[in-house]
Amino acid sequence: MDSIVVTGNGPLRGQIPIAGAKNACLTLMPATLLSDEPLTLTNAPRLSDIAMMGTLLQSLGAEVAQMQGGKVLALSSHALDNHVADYDIVRKMRASILVLGPMLARDGHAVVSLPGGCAIGARPVDLHLRALEALGAELDLRDGYVHAKAPGGLRGGTFEFPLVSVGATENALMAATLARGTTVLKNAAREPEIADLARCLRKMGARIEGEGTSTLTIEGVARLGGATHAVVPDRIELGTYMIAPAICGGEVECLGGRIDLVQAFCDALDRAGITVAETEAGLKVTRGDGPVRATDVATEPFPGFPTDLQAQMMALMCTAEGTSLLEERIFENRFMHAPELMRMGARIDVQGGTATVTGVDRLKGAPVMATDLRASVSLILAGLAAEGETTVHRVYHLDRGYESVEEKLRNVGAKIERISGQ
Ligand code: EPZ
Repeated sequence: MDSIVVTGNGPLRGQIPIAGAKNACLTLMPATLLSDEPLTLTNAPRLSDIAMMGTLLQSLGAEVAQMQGGKVLALSSHALDNHVADYDIVRKMRASILVLGPMLARDGHAVVSLPGGCAIGARPVDLHLRALEALGAELDLRDGYVHAKAPGGLRGGTFEFPLVSVGATENALMAATLARGTTVLKNAAREPEIADLARCLRKMGARIEGEGTSTLTIEGVARLGGATHAVVPDRIELGTYMIAPAICGGEVECLGGRIDLVQAFCDALDRAGITVAETEAGLKVTRGDGPVRATDVATEPFPGFPTDLQAQMMALMCTAEGTSLLEERIFENRFMHAPELMRMGARIDVQGGTATVTGVDRLKGAPVMATDLRASVSLILAGLAAEGETTVHRVYHLDRGYESVEEKLRNVGAKIERISGQ
């Protein structure tokens, strides 16, 4: 297993290009199952999760071709010759559940393994299933698989999500595009990745209103066509790299960054004394001479502060002046980066869903362990600012969500290298 060695090397300066959003691409790719015409995705990120989704779609009989080094994905699914999403793939990537709605909508049957839990929580899929049942799906859970049928096809229905779920909204939205009649999804997720999916589905001929609000209205159509769609920039990668100059000092311009994707996050940086300016090319982040100020953060569904940036914000607060409270309201176990940051000298007290962070003058480099995607990158960020050398082990977690992280950070002055493991 590879590890990454980071050595504190002072302020960062330069530009970091922001890739297409992993979490948009992971729902745009299964949309190919809704149509027998080609779907081309540009600005796709080059990540192991994207390759995994491609493998899953190919196992169902879809064609997936990577071009321009993976930046362009050419997808098509003329006829599926397999309707079973196997446990072996699904257990490695939870987003696999997103083939359920499209497969069911297109062919009236699907068998998808239940994903199981993951490091940050149980992450059930009950809302995905209940939403599809509201569209007439008949579901049978057995042997760890969801056996779904819609013999006469799906029909439009109304479903109110008891809690906001990104994936369940995406599954229901895709299924509803081919359901007979009108579907209304209430308390739907408002994440930019869902708006991006809606825009792509509309290019394919779907009739959708309300993306970005908590009510989606979909008029089903008989069939969908193909489309070419550029994946929206990755707001989590963007926020991650905005923390780098904040925690190290200096000035970094994130190319392709858009303030509308990270408004709540920018508000928190502003409270911490970090300057964010919109430029022609993206967002420029400047750490002034003053200290980083502690500020409180609570994670919420979009447009609130994103849970996927909580670990990165915690790394910054570890070096802030004062005490901050970070409340994780989305997942039940998303503070696994805390004990690792404490190995670097951070002062963190975790009580249930709240972490109290008391800033220290300087973190100290240490060997640390990555546990999940966003925790691993928070350790890299802490290592950039720490005194001495930090070795982050099990960086395969990192490769799921960040393309060329060493190269992007080295290009702005970071001292960082990957050590290939056995
Ligand atoms: C998506 O996961 C993202 N993944 C996650 O990003 C992100 O953290 C999460 O949304 C929240 O923004 C992808 O888009 C591939 P949810 P998802 O359904 O859809 C509970 C990353 O780092 N819930 O919005 O699985 C669930 O347990 C990843 O890129 C149910 O109870 O998240 C959680 O507490 C990590 N039943 C809450 O809802 C369900 O059926 C929000 O989950 C579904 C979810």
